[in-house]
Amino acid sequence: MAISSDRVRLLRRWAPRNDNKRKPRNDNPYRCIWVFAVFIIGILFLTPYSLYSDSGKERPHGDKTKLLKGCASCHKGHGIYNTPMLSERKELYCFRCHGQSMYVEKAKSEGDLARDVTTANIQKEFEKPYHHPIEKIGIHQYGEILPEVDSSMSPHAACGDCHHHHLVKNDNKMSGIRGTNKEGLRVRITAEYELCFNCHSFSANLPADQTNKAEIFKISNPSFHPVIAPGRNTYVPSLIPSLTPSSLIQCTDCHNNDDAAGPRGPHGSQNRYILSKNFTTTDGSVGDSEYPYELCYSCHRSSSILANESFQFHYSHISREGASCRTCHNPHGSTQYTHLIDFNRATVMPSDSMQLLYTDFGNKKGQCSLKCHGKNHDPAVYPSGISNPSPVEPSFMPKRFPSRR
Ligand code: HEC
Ligand code: HEC
Ligand code: HEC
Ligand code: HEC
Ligand code: HEC
Ligand code: HEC
Ligand code: HEC
Repeated sequence: MAISSDRVRLLRRWAPRNDNKRKPRNDNPYRCIWVFAVFIIGILFLTPYSLYSDSGKERPHGDKTKLLKGCASCHKGHGIYNTPMLSERKELYCFRCHGQSMYVEKAKSEGDLARDVTTANIQKEFEKPYHHPIEKIGIHQYGEILPEVDSSMSPHAACGDCHHHHLVKNDNKMSGIRGTNKEGLRVRITAEYELCFNCHSFSANLPADQTNKAEIFKISNPSFHPVIAPGRNTYVPSLIPSLTPSSLIQCTDCHNNDDAAGPRGPHGSQNRYILSKNFTTTDGSVGDSEYPYELCYSCHRSSSILANESFQFHYSHISREGASCRTCHNPHGSTQYTHLIDFNRATVMPSDSMQLLYTDFGNKKGQCSLKCHGKNHDPAVYPSGISNPSPVEPSFMPKRFPSRR
């Protein structure tokens, strides 16, 4: 808490804000002239260097075999009002070439885009029920400072938050975008999560039902999915090769297009939380069907989980009682317990003796004190029959101390 409020103050000092900050910028009559001047300077000195230099070949927006008119494929005459001479409102702009075929055909017939180029239809992704809210238009500003420090700002996400209009690359679609590292500092992006942390970590306007992902993936936590660094557990028998306990995964391994043949990216999905595969967070899916937890089973063998290779009571809870993985595990990390244990308080209550606790006794051994669907564990120990267990000593916990990095 202290850290983030320090940060906020620091940012405020760097970037003094006033109430005009987010006012539409078109109330300045000279803006048009300024934009034109900057544009000419850009053409003469700056942009050609970055867009069309030798490395420009890997920048698709600098490829004149595809964008036949170069800069003019995107910038027209004086352009429309309040844009840097763009031919379309900014929010719709990218769909000219990455949207429905109707738009793309138009760009082709106007000679802006080569006939033989096929671009992915990203517009379709944003029409799915769960998507990043690009329809919240006009909030994003080029050069804005994220994470947001003003709690009254409406959260937003635009194409330009995740892709740079000039510097985007085929092999690095975040190229040119600044990110937020695990400490909350502004950095050049070197890992995908640093893009996501711009809006899903220390933002003052984080929605109430979302957690700070930098805190939950923090590598000093007792457990976390290996997004920032390899995980702490060395015994994860369920992993599907070539995954191992030293693998790293990305946010977009779970948050992605549900259509595996469609364009990649966390744009939109038919699944809630923009998940690439189905995941049921609530209890009630009795039986051996993989479907409710197919997201988890894309990396963890269901045959291992349901054969109780680690937790002796996986099968009885999942298949017989219909408990969701989410009832016991957090898909991101746990600030309290090992093994991503973070009980879902929607169903898990304190036990009759008012205990709500998980204790790790070492590999495949532990105990829970809780009450769930009326069933009282006060406590319940696994594996069944172990007697007189004692909690793991720090020295017996190589998976906690020190962290494997
Ligand atoms: C793929 C389309 C596209 C191409 C090609 C393109 N631009 Fe842009 N340009 C944009 C967009 C979109 C913006 C507005 C970014 C914003 O404000 O969020 C922009 C903004 C600008 C700006 C304002 C400063 C900035 O970077 O925001 C300048 C100057 C500029 N472009 C110059 C050029 C020049 C010169 C070329 C050719 C070398 C070029 N652009 C090619 C899409 C393009
Ligand atoms: C005038 C046409 C045009 C416009 C407008 C345009 N793009 Fe592109 N874009 C292309 C072409 C052509 C490619 C290269 C083909 C491809 O890889 O899909 C490309 C490639 C990309 C890529 C990399 C795709 C990949 O598969 O590697 C991204 C990301 C991208 N554009 C985002 C944007 C965004 C965001 C905007 C709006 C600011 C935008 N584009 C506007 C034509 C355009
Ligand atoms: C520029 C800001 C921004 C960036 C960058 C960003 N997001 Fe988001 N994201 C949002 C906003 C705004 C929402 C909608 C929040 C809401 O539910 O009100 C959202 C929603 C989501 C949701 C759905 C949440 C829910 O409750 O359904 C997921 C999942 C998500 N983002 C993942 C990601 C991932 C993964 C990345 C990085 C690849 C990322 N986001 C990058 C702004 C951003
Ligand atoms: C192993 C899969 C997995 C990975 C990796 C993952 N998520 Fe999630 N995420 C989920 C699932 C499942 C849910 C829905 C259930 C829940 O919220 O507990 C979710 C929910 C969310 C939500 C909405 C609810 C909330 O908790 O805030 C956001 C935002 C989000 N994830 C962002 C991210 C970001 C950012 C990253 C990377 C730093 C990431 N996720 C990595 C599986 C994953
Ligand atoms: C919240 C961040 C975010 C937003 C908003 C966003 N993208 Fe993406 N986009 C990504 C990520 C991450 C990838 C995938 C990168 C990867 O897998 O290498 C991606 C991939 C792409 C690709 C390549 C897809 C493929 O498989 O060929 C295109 C094109 C693209 N985005 C265009 C857009 C356009 C246009 C918009 C706005 C309408 C947009 N994106 C909005 C994060 C975002
Ligand atoms: C009733 C609580 C509970 C439920 C429900 C549950 N788990 Fe677990 N799980 C545990 C406990 C406790 C451990 C730790 C076992 C140990 O001590 O090593 C564990 C360990 C794991 C592990 C790490 C070791 C391994 O097996 O590779 C994975 C992966 C896992 N669970 C996945 C899942 C998935 C996927 C689901 C849903 C299909 C699920 N769990 C449902 C309690 C649960
Ligand atoms: C993209 C691949 C991927 C997906 C999807 C995935 N996991 Fe994992 N998971 C891993 C990897 C890799 C590890 C090993 C980390 C380690 O060694 O601590 C792991 C470890 C775990 C552990 C053990 C962590 C510990 O510290 O003991 C649990 C529990 C777990 N996953 C549960 C889940 C659940 C529940 C889901 C579905 C919501 C899920 N996983 C989805 C890749 C994945």
